[in-house]
Amino acid sequence: MLISWNVTKVCNLYCKHCYRSSGPDAPTDRELTTEEGKQLLSEIRKAGFRLVILSGGEPLMREDLFELIAYASSLGLRTALGSNGTLITKDVAVRLKAAGLAGAAISLDSHDPSFHNDFRNRYDAWEKAIEGIRRCQEAELDVQINMTLSEDNASHFSAVADLAEELNVRALHPFFLVPTGRGTAIEDDMLRQLRYFDVLRAVLDRGKKSRLDIKPTCAPQFLPMARDMELPMRYTRGCLAGLSYCCILPDGEVHICPYLPVKAGSVREAPFDEIWRDSEVFNQLRDYSGYGGACGSCSDIGLCGGCRARAYRYHNGDYMAEEPWCYKIRTGTSPLTEEEPRQACPSPRPAKENKR
Ligand SMILES: C[S@@+](CC[C@H](N)C(=O)[O-])C[C@H]1O[C@@H](n2cnc3c(N)ncnc32)[C@H](O)[C@@H]1O
Ligand code: SF4
Ligand code: SF4
Repeated sequence: MLISWNVTKVCNLYCKHCYRSSGPDAPTDRELTTEEGKQLLSEIRKAGFRLVILSGGEPLMREDLFELIAYASSLGLRTALGSNGTLITKDVAVRLKAAGLAGAAISLDSHDPSFHNDFRNRYDAWEKAIEGIRRCQEAELDVQINMTLSEDNASHFSAVADLAEELNVRALHPFFLVPTGRGTAIEDDMLRQLRYFDVLRAVLDRGKKSRLDIKPTCAPQFLPMARDMELPMRYTRGCLAGLSYCCILPDGEVHICPYLPVKAGSVREAPFDEIWRDSEVFNQLRDYSGYGGACGSCSDIGLCGGCRARAYRYHNGDYMAEEPWCYKIRTGTSPLTEEEPRQACPSPRPAKENKR
């Protein structure tokens, strides 16, 4: 079980796609205090979680980050950082390791510095991210690269995988762009329809050949697809949200996942372990009979789950509705069989536009 805690909304960058709409001027007044954060970590441990991803915003913008990592370690929790990497100097990497951090997932959206720097709105974001990766490796932290994939950079994936191999990182996780936060402004660039599945298949193909751990993220159909491609997989479900994963916002709100603005509770109102166990929202997600549309009658619902954030965006906030990019609905049976025609269909539009 793993959990993301977005420790702050503040960030030194201002990326085009940011789900948290983070930036240098984001407010801090509602952030959990250090003491509240420690209490939360105890409750996370009590709920049975083992891995906490400290993310943001940029988690390194929080001064007490090292103290929180050390406290989590003292409880027996493993911690990993989700970071843009630009603030990881040699000293920071050494301090992270000393506090007990297991590893860092650093974002790199292209092998091409100019693409990444433009996307992340800073002239040297790429160079700094590469430096951050190297400093983490020198400090013997486990390193993963996170790449956000859209129509704009899907063709860069193979070169990023080459670079990740060259840098000798352990893992590469391509995050399929989700239309939320500032990401809604670029949702036309989102991979969709048959392109979504073609890119997903290319990612899985590369994973078959590479020594990197390549895991598509926020593309839950990857698991039924991997099964159809007869690829060995150690994952249990395409989307873990609500089942063995959830997200804590900077102010303590508990959400299904970072991309889905649905509140299951607040750690300022009830202990996290109680929210995790009792919340109606989580229990709804755990009951497969409550899923709507094609997801509701799909034999792969247990393995896939569909993206609840995309269902929310395209079905008037109904996160239990069918997943807009499901390959069974959109392409006949499976994109791997040519027995049925691969039909294109109209792209779903965001819910507000559907209301016409
Ligand atoms: C919000 S960031 C927080 C950590 C850090 N600031 C960073 O950018 O890596 C966590 C990861 O989510 C990715 N991400 C942000 N917005 C996204 C979106 N709308 N869709 C998919 N991935 C997104 C980021 O690129 C990053 O790899
Ligand atoms: S994606 Fe990460 S680096 Fe970019 S603005 Fe959001 S929190 Fe900051
Ligand atoms: S609901 Fe969608 S965006 Fe959220 S974790 Fe699952 S696949 Fe990712």
